[in-house]
Parts: sequence; structure tokens; C-alpha cells
Amino acid sequence: MENRSIAIDGPSGAGKSTLARLTAKKFGLIYVDTGALYRTVGLYAIRNKVTSKYEEGVKRLLPDIKIEMMYDNDGLQRMILNGTDVSEEIRTPQASIYASDVSAMVSVRSYLLNMQKEMAEKYDVIMDGRDIGTVVLPNAGLKIFLTAQLEERARRRHKELTDKKVAVTYDEVLRDIEYRDKNDSERSAAPLRAAPDAILVDTTGKSLDECFHIICALAKEKLDL
Ligand code: DC
Repeated sequence: MENRSIAIDGPSGAGKSTLARLTAKKFGLIYVDTGALYRTVGLYAIRNKVTSKYEEGVKRLLPDIKIEMMYDNDGLQRMILNGTDVSEEIRTPQASIYASDVSAMVSVRSYLLNMQKEMAEKYDVIMDGRDIGTVVLPNAGLKIFLTAQLEERARRRHKELTDKKVAVTYDEVLRDIEYRDKNDSERSAAPLRAAPDAILVDTTGKSLDECFHIICALAKEKLDL
């Protein structure tokens, strides 16, 4: 139910997915990483050699895309694209750029919106993304806008990727995040915005533990968990 759900929005690398995963585990919520949906559409465009700025071309691909979200034993979301697990492939720098580009398209956003709403109707969720508090779950019981300074976000994302053995330099990650910050905030369709009733949490200089405590306290206060 939406009023028992949590919306977390914010720019890339603010710590949304790590914190959402921990919070989901603690309170028995289903964690939905909505960025993975846009990444999966982006990956399909890459595979079909459609440039990510060409909306008509991407739109034409949509009927051929079947996306399923599955959860492994650790509660980690796996993305299945037309029957194949693409959870690792959607994390490459190229897939990040494509995800950001296709996410500016109204056709792609409306195609993915239903899937997100259905998940939230079936389960108590913690969903992270860019427009969760503003568009997907406007009645979420708790809305958080998570942010951090650019360089810190780039450092964290670089570590996360290198830990996963993705070959990428710090400078590439920084450029990717700068590009996506601009793209995601300046697009006209559901741009990255804090909902008016979202609580701002700046994670700059804070440890994961500190941030997790802040979010747990807010969840207990607002959702009676
Ligand atoms: O959260 P992420 O970095 O995996 O998201 C990838 C891209 O998808 C991001 O640059 C913007 C887009 N996105 C979006 O537009 N709306 C969402 N709810 C989630 C992600």
C-alpha cells in the first residue's frame, strides 16, 4: 500500500540503492530499484544499435521489450530482459548514459510507469529513483530526497563499480555523473526534483551507518514501522 511505502529520490551516487536495500531488509519492505528499468531499456537500444537520443527509434523498440524483476535469496533485484538476466550488463558506463537519455522520453516513462505502480499496489515497497515522490508514489508515507556533493558521489560510485570488477576510471565516473545530473534535472518529462513534502538528507561526510540511522528513525516516525 502506497501510504506504507517509502520513496527515495536523488542524483546518481547519493547512496540511494545501498540505503534502500538495508532499509528494506530491516523493515520487511520490497526494494525496487527503478533506475534498473531505464537501464534495461537503454541496454535494449544499445543492442539494437538505436542511438539513445532518437525517440522514434527507441519508441518502436518498446513493444519488443519484456522486462521482469526477480529477487534472489538475498533480496537483490535481478533484471530479466526477454528471458535473459542482464543485471550486470546494465551497469556499464555506456548503459548509464543510455539510461539517462532514454529516461527523458515520455514514451519510455509512461511505458515503465505502470510496472512501478503495480509493484507498489501489490507490496509495501521502498522505491528509489528520480521521480518516485513526485510521480510514481505521490502518496508515499515517507519521501526522502537523498543528496551529496558531486565529488563524493563520484568516489562512491567508482568504488561500487570497481568492487563489482567493472573497469572504469574515477574521471569517467565523474563525467558520467555530471552528464546525468544535468540531463536528469533539465529534461521536461518528470525531471529530478524533490517533492514538496520530501525530507532532504545530505549524506556528504556521513558514514553509511549514520545515514542508515537517519532513515530508520524517519521510517519509524512516519510509517509507524
Ligand atoms: O538510479 P540509476 O543511476 O540506476 O538510474 C539510471 C538513469 O535512469 C538515471 O540517469 C535517470 C533515470 N531514472 C529516471 O529517470 N527515473 C527514475 N525513477 C529512475 C532512474
